[in-house]
Formats: sequence, structure tokens, C-alpha cells
Amino acid sequence: MPPDTNPRNKKFLVTMALPYANGDIHLGHLLEAVQTDIFVRYQRLRGNHAVYVCADDTHGTPIELSALKRNITPAELIAQAHKDHCRDYAGFNIGFDIFYTTNSEENRTYVELIFENLRKNGLVAEREIGQYYCEHDKRFLPDRFIAGTCPKCKAIKQYGDVCEACGATYEPTDLGDPHCVVCGRQPVMRQSKHFYVQLSKCEQFLRDFIARPGVLQDDMRNFVTTWINEGLREWCVSRDGPYFGFRIPGTENKFFYVWLDAPIGYLSSTDRWCKDNGRRVEEYWSPGSGTRIVHFIGKDIVYFHALFWPVMLKNSNFNLPSTIFVHGFLNIGGEKMSKSRGTFILARDFLSKVKHPQAPEYLRFFFGAKLAPNTADIDFSPDEFTKRVNTTLANNFGNLHHRTFVFCERYFDKKIPEAPWDETIAREVESAAAEIERCYEAAEYKSVVERVHALGNRGNKYYQDNKPWELVKTDPAGAASIMVTCVNLIKAIAVFLKPIVPEICGSVERQLGARFSWNDYRFSLSGKPLLVTEKLVIPLTDEDIAPLFASTASLAAKAEASADDGMIDIAAFKDVDLRVARILSAEKIEKSKKLVKLQVEIGSEHRQILAGIAEHYSPDQLAGKLVIVVANLKPAMLMGQKSEGMLLTAEGPDGKFVLLTPENPMASGARVS
Ligand code: 2FM
Ligand code: ZN
Repeated sequence: MPPDTNPRNKKFLVTMALPYANGDIHLGHLLEAVQTDIFVRYQRLRGNHAVYVCADDTHGTPIELSALKRNITPAELIAQAHKDHCRDYAGFNIGFDIFYTTNSEENRTYVELIFENLRKNGLVAEREIGQYYCEHDKRFLPDRFIAGTCPKCKAIKQYGDVCEACGATYEPTDLGDPHCVVCGRQPVMRQSKHFYVQLSKCEQFLRDFIARPGVLQDDMRNFVTTWINEGLREWCVSRDGPYFGFRIPGTENKFFYVWLDAPIGYLSSTDRWCKDNGRRVEEYWSPGSGTRIVHFIGKDIVYFHALFWPVMLKNSNFNLPSTIFVHGFLNIGGEKMSKSRGTFILARDFLSKVKHPQAPEYLRFFFGAKLAPNTADIDFSPDEFTKRVNTTLANNFGNLHHRTFVFCERYFDKKIPEAPWDETIAREVESAAAEIERCYEAAEYKSVVERVHALGNRGNKYYQDNKPWELVKTDPAGAASIMVTCVNLIKAIAVFLKPIVPEICGSVERQLGARFSWNDYRFSLSGKPLLVTEKLVIPLTDEDIAPLFASTASLAAKAEASADDGMIDIAAFKDVDLRVARILSAEKIEKSKKLVKLQVEIGSEHRQILAGIAEHYSPDQLAGKLVIVVANLKPAMLMGQKSEGMLLTAEGPDGKFVLLTPENPMASGARVS
């Protein structure tokens, strides 16, 4: 981070949403991290002072539950997550100044301060409410500790705060058929005291806040205005213990709700960074500091950032956000990321499975090429990824660079020759710069990439039309002029793209022996040595990307099945190859009470299957029967004998297993669906 010695330079404190510590970093997280990182790198390129702050969001019931499932403590869980998250983001060159944690003493101090100030300002009400309590686990059941039927759409197995089927939010007490997610028992109702922030008392402040120019995109401002018009609800900011979080001072066993302490993590992480870097937190978070606070978030957490968070800050006299920048979700191949379809792509899988050394940089480029300042969802498809990277980076920019530098190496003794550049192209770059600047300021990176692509096209056409390979024989000075123009154009493109693809542009810097700042887009080079001529961009192939989608499917299906409480989607079901089979013969297995050995025919194939039905069917009842088998089960050894499939049975009320069989006689091998 460059020093901010020039008082005309702007100061930014930039954040992305704090990722939950109970999950891995996936491509959706990376979209936001890259969007934020590009903004920060652009500001620094302009000579502005920008601090990029992030942390793990470590508290709340999902973390407790994950730790419980894995039989570790929440502290162990968040320590491991912190390591993993740092490694994953670093793999994509996300240049945080600090990646801290909300489970810090700094955060506790700010949370207590902010809550106390809300209380002093008369914004906190205390109320006794009826809440579900599990007598078996001896705990209240907030949020994700309780599940039941959604009061709105009647979907089963929904948590106590939000329905994942219809998106409705509600209180745990609104759920039908409530049960404890730990032990499955029915809870009882108990009274408990809670703290509520009375947001409606801040209505005018919030209306004024969201009306500030640039604070929200227009569509988001409309959304938030609707919420305010519908009436601001009280916000419960306490939870009963046990709860992984900060205890509320003056209470025995009440804790701050995770969503109170999460955004405060922006502030406390800045504080930590200031302490480590000889700065004062007031330089960023005091209202008169002149720092612009810019938050990048997804569209699912606007309520927290546009309504709760400003109220927290205002009542403790902290700086308010200048911009809350909201983006859409990431889809894969046109659909929501899904574990069973193998499209829930983790950052670490991307890093380990895509062997192309520039793949992380290419993903940054791809996201840059798709990101616009709106909340539309963004789609990642392998085909488009490969195509975009190759079209703009390899065939356009990379090609212009390669042909130019190789030419200089061969005909001009590894130098940028001394010659005048083409003024028309220099002027075109000048006007592109003004536009690109505007696009970066508006986080419209898609248009930056389009503009740069047009410049690359222009350069390649200029090269092609002027035929330097012919000119060099008849008019070396003319050829020199073309090279000088192309090298300067390449430099300009590298400056423009540096926030998006810092590695590739870093390579151009090395080759030119420079370190770019924004104004280096201007034509300036002539008569200088070229240090190296390494290729900038190695094209991406379909084979590079394929492993990302191939092997995740079946494993991920299992993961999703367990993550969704046993629910699978149709794709997971279709993975199971069910067939009609004919039992050719059956015999008992010595020393086994349960197993019977069957020879079965599945179409033209013969298989041996060991089935656990010996107590329910004698061998002679089985021969000749048509049954349903799982035909693609991995072979297994049972009692020293091979079994290549599984029979489907149902358990009757008397505990007897009954074979499933087709209603009408039919050929074996028929597919069951
Ligand atoms: O939605 C989420 O992933 C939250 N962990 C984001 C928190 S952002 C901030 F408020 F801390
Ligand atoms: Zn329970």
C-alpha cells in the first residue's frame, strides 16, 4: 500500500463481506473478492490510498453446529477455516491488507461500545418472549438450532430463521412441527429476556442516508426504500447461551447475535491493521477523516448493510459508508451452484485441478470481463471462460505483445527502437484512458475489458496493415516507428489491465523495466532496451478446465445429500442405475444367516449378487423371479465372495423384507426410472 503523502489523493477503506468460517471459499466468494480487489488495485494505481480489510465471520449457530458435527470446538473450527481461507484467497492474488477474525478482543470492545451507545441513545428495548427450548440438550433453540415446516410455503426441514425453499423470513415460533436439530426432539416453550434495536426510531436518518448520492445503486435504493415504507421492524440482537460469540455485559448468559458483531468486524479489523502499521483507526472511521468507506456485498445482505449497519455506526459517531456496492450471485452453466451437479466449485479445487499455471489470473480476468455495476447474476461456464480468455488475452493482447517483442528482438537488437510513434494511435489511447477511468470508478469492469479489447484489435490491425516484416527490408525507420507505436500501445493496455490481471501486467513491467502507475498509459517509450521477452499468455484449453467438472460430481452429491438433511436432487437420483434383473439361481452361504448367493441376468450380462434376504426367502423361492437391482454399485467382497450389485427390497410392518418386482413380466435389463 503506497503512502498517502499527497493531500490531494483520496483515502479509501474497502471491504468485502466477511466469509463465514463454517464453509469453504467457493467461486461465489471469489467473484466478490476479485471485484473488490480490482477496485483497490485501481485506486492504488491512481496514487490513492486504499486499505483492503476483511476477516472471517466466526460466530453464531452454524459454526457451533458444524463444530458439533465434526466433534471439535468452535475455536478449533475457526482456526482451521482461517488458514484455509487465507490460502484460498492468496491463490487468486487477493491483496488484503488484513484478513482478520471477528472473534478478536478488538471486536469485543467495539461490539460492547456500539451496543452501549445504542442503549444510551434509547434505541434498545428489553422484552420477555416465549422461545423454544430443548429439555434434552438444555438449550434454547434459535435460528439454525431449530427446524420445522415453513409457515409460508409449507416446505419441510426449514430452519428457524429463513426458508430456503421460498425465501421467507420468520421467527422460530412461526415454524410448524418444530424440532431440535441436535436431537430431533420436540422443544418446549420457555420465557426468555431479549434485547431489541428499535430501528423505526431511526427512520428519518436512514431515509437521508440512503438518499446520499452514490451510497447505493438505484435499484437497491428502491428496494431499501420499500423496506422502510413497509415499516422498520425491531431487530433482536441477543441470543441465549450456550452461543459461540460475545457475552453481553451485565447478563448471565446472553450473547450478541452474530449479525451484530459481523459488520463491526470491518471496524475492528481496521483497528488491528492500524495498530500493526503505525496508524490510528480514526484516520478511517471518524466522520471527519475524509476516508471513503466502500463495502462490496452480495444482494442477499443488503438489509444488514443499508439499515442495521449505518444505525450502529451513527450512534457511536463513526464514519458512514460512502458506497455500498451490491453485486449479483454467481451461477455455473446458467444454474445455481449445486453440489450434486458437481458445480459447487471450491477455490481450492480450482487451484489444484486446473493445472494451467495462469488459471487463477484468468479467472480474475473472466470475472472482470463479466462484472458491471448492477445486481444481475453472473454466469460462469467452462466454454465461455476458455473463449473469453483466449479471445482477449491470448489472441488479442498476447498476440500483439508477442509479435511486437519478437520483432524488436530479431530486428532491433532486443531494443525498442528510437523512432517517433504514431500520434493518431497515441490520441486514441488518450481518449480510451478517460473512458476506462470512468468505468473503473463506477466498478464497470466489463466495459474496461471491452475498451481494452478494442485497443488490442486496433494494434493488431495496425501491425498487420503496415507489414513491418516487409518494411524492415525497404524502410527500417518506418518499421521502427511501427514497433515503437506497438510497444507503447502494449504498455498502455498493461496499465489499463493491471488491476484485473496483475501478474500478466507485472510481466510486461518486468520486460520494460518499469513499475506502472496510472499515467504510464501515455506514450513515452523510445530507444530503450527490452529486458526479456517471455510469453504473456498461454492459451487455455478445454482439457485444462475439464477436471474441475468431471470428478467433483459424485463426491459432491454425497456432500450435498448430507448438507441438505438427506434431500437429493433429481441429478443425484439419476446417478443410480436401476435395472430389472432375472434371478437364475440362488444358494445359501455357509456360516451366514442373512446372505444368499444369487446368479442374476441383467440383459445379456450375468452377475453374482449377495443379498441379505436369507431369513425372508428360501433359495427355491427366488430362482426365476424378476427383481430390481442397483446395477452400477461398486463390486464388494462379502464373506469372501464377490457381490456385483444390490437387490431392492422393502421392509414390511412385520419386519419381513419383500422383494420389489415389476408388475408385469418383462425382459431383464430394462431400465427403471
Ligand atoms: O452472508 C455472509 O456470508 C456473512 N458472513 C457476511 C457478513 S458481512 C459483514 F457484515 F460482516
Ligand atoms: Zn435437542
